[in-house]
Amino acid sequence: MKVTMVATGYVGLVSGACFSEFGHDVVCVDSDERKIAALNRGEIPVFEPGLDAMVAANTEAGRLTFTTNLGESVAASEVIFVAVDTPSRHGDGYADLSYVYAAVDDIAAHVQDGAVVVTKSTVPVGTGSELAERIGQRLAELGRDISVSVASNPEFLREGSAIEDFKRPDRVVVGAEDEATHATIARLYRPLSLRNVPMVHTSRETAELIKYAGNAFLATKITFINEIADLCEQVGANVQEIARGIGLDGRIGSKFLHAGPGYGGSCFPKDTRALLGIAEQADVTLPIVDAVVSSNESRKKRMADRIIAACGGSVEGKTVAVLGLTFKPNTDDMRESPSLDIIPALLEAGASVQAHDPEGMREAAPLLPDTKLMTGPYEALEGADVVVIITEWNVYRALDLPRVASLMNQPIMVDLRNIYTAAEMQQAGFTYYSVGREAIS
Ligand code: UGA
Repeated sequence: MKVTMVATGYVGLVSGACFSEFGHDVVCVDSDERKIAALNRGEIPVFEPGLDAMVAANTEAGRLTFTTNLGESVAASEVIFVAVDTPSRHGDGYADLSYVYAAVDDIAAHVQDGAVVVTKSTVPVGTGSELAERIGQRLAELGRDISVSVASNPEFLREGSAIEDFKRPDRVVVGAEDEATHATIARLYRPLSLRNVPMVHTSRETAELIKYAGNAFLATKITFINEIADLCEQVGANVQEIARGIGLDGRIGSKFLHAGPGYGGSCFPKDTRALLGIAEQADVTLPIVDAVVSSNESRKKRMADRIIAACGGSVEGKTVAVLGLTFKPNTDDMRESPSLDIIPALLEAGASVQAHDPEGMREAAPLLPDTKLMTGPYEALEGADVVVIITEWNVYRALDLPRVASLMNQPIMVDLRNIYTAAEMQQAGFTYYSVGREAIS
């Protein structure tokens, strides 16, 4: 099938590459000429394992191309995906749809009769119907007597494992208002349905809300275990054993029960806030989601206090080594990362901070201008009074602990991802604080 993917952001690029891998002819369109020129040279603007190889292979096979010419590719496509950014609007947290509107206005001028316009961007409930109306009006203004349908096909991929998630999803959700549109999208995903991946066919509104409800539920699960972790620390219980003890109950499930410094990234914080905005507009209160948002925000802010407490109540004049800056491993994404709350608070309290991240330092540099970015983890540890693990990158999971201790002024670790065990830290002579587990001194 011929497919246009509008916007080459994270979701657009991964989805476009994966659809071409499924055998479709995909044109990725972006108005940013420099980005398209870079993609045509094989340069991938985001760090995502396996994406560069997949883009190269499908470009080489002629199934994946990049262009700034939206009209030409839209006119030739049966399916046009809108995967533009929907940032949080300042002030109210509601998703800003201006890029979506601009994209569909352009699409309406070129789209062919019978084509399907599909939103892949996360959009508020009702947007699909609004876009259908908007496209209808644009077509009428342009005197184009054709019929175009609008569908919702939300994306559930995770940064760092996006390709695997796209090729082996738990389910594919399709929201549309007529059988023919459902059938067109089902054809696109035929390689998956042949492998028995469940296809969930719903109305547009339901598909749009599935995306928000899914992310809000996962954010709730993380926030719940983080709150239980706080309680564990006070009553001498172990949150990892609790996560295992409850996660083995099939009704609860073991995933997304890792306690940590609070969730970040471009999705959970934005989508939970947007869901509250959607509910407010519908005159409905969502007290659970509301509590999750504020619990997570205050948690990220409180993490610096733990580090200060680990240093005896003050970091004034002390050196803090930070390992991991991105919101999670295997990405260079810094959006809403806990490090952006923790490090400024430590600097404010008089510490100097030496940090390392395997992939995120280029993104981090302008956001954390007063942090010394070091070439490797051991460089960051030199002369440190405390080391803090913020992101659980693999390279930090097997540090040479005697070497770490010898580089530091004093062997104190605050492990916000619970990647070490109390026993190994005790053996290595560390004072060790983690999340929801007993401290070792
Ligand atoms: C999330 C969802 O997992 C995807 O299904 C969804 O498609 C995506 O948002 C989106 O809406 O586009 P992502 O933000 O890439 O994906 O990352 P996650 O792996 O979900 O992690 C989000 C945050 O939660 C990270 O800061 C991570 O450290 C934290 N987390 C996750 C925990 O603290 N504990 C856990 O058990 C799991």
